[in-house]
Amino acid sequence: MTAHQPIGVFDSGVGGLSVLREIRRALPHEDLLYVADSAYAPYGDQSADAIELRAVAVTEQLIARGAKAIVVACNTATGAAARVLRTRYSVPVIAMEPAVKPAIDRTRSGVIGVLATRQTLASHTFKQLLARMGEGPEILLQACPGLVERVEAGDLEGEGTRALLAAYVEPLLAQGADTLVLGCTHYPHLGRLIAEIAGSRTTVLDSGAAVARQVHRRLAEVGLLAPPGRVGTERFWTSGEPGTVAAVMERLWGAPLELYPLTREAATPLFGEGEALVVQGAGCSR
Ligand code: DGL
Repeated sequence: MTAHQPIGVFDSGVGGLSVLREIRRALPHEDLLYVADSAYAPYGDQSADAIELRAVAVTEQLIARGAKAIVVACNTATGAAARVLRTRYSVPVIAMEPAVKPAIDRTRSGVIGVLATRQTLASHTFKQLLARMGEGPEILLQACPGLVERVEAGDLEGEGTRALLAAYVEPLLAQGADTLVLGCTHYPHLGRLIAEIAGSRTTVLDSGAAVARQVHRRLAEVGLLAPPGRVGTERFWTSGEPGTVAAVMERLWGAPLELYPLTREAATPLFGEGEALVVQGAGCSR
């Protein structure tokens, strides 16, 4: 394993770009590989076993392409698979944690709203997080079916998206929430609409920047930070239709990008052929 190897990042789709952006900002020298598992999105309505299978399949391919660390840029996959990934692979696996603790520190009304997928809210990992918070502010949980699909479709500001968001956010505000936790990496892409609906007195928190800091810390700990003085690159893959996904990804990423196809069959190489990416040791602990 060398410091020159890339960091592998994945999500069920384009949501994890909200995390990738923070990683790019915090770690400008690193090469980044990103997989949008769009053909299998949304993860949030699937069983934990199905999500775990996808998380392992995608991680396997990122590691085969030289990833020195894996970032699970998806709260739902974190709940379903982070533990398994950590057991299975020897590379650092950095995963999401909804910003409940920072929200507890910030709330003045003593009421917090957490927006996430059904799977995240039902996960053992999330229940453990809540248990660690102990007594204190009231924490309202709101599952948001349908929102991930809106983001995947690039419908960030349409009337349908606004109505769906309002149906999820307004009841939390009506119950006194003054702090909202975005517990799904797709939701920061709806930041403008959320701010409009929630109003300027409501604090809206996500975990992207904290995860980027954690990636920095973990790589520093194991001596794998890319050397300074180089400009990091990004490469993108999707299991969806690249032509369709690229338009949304470029909009969210804010720059043109090359998107490679990730084939759906586990038996064939998942990544597109013809790329000159050097594999430098897999680091798989199995
Ligand atoms: N971005 C994923 C998350 O953070 C979305 C999950 C989904 O695909 O439903 O939970």
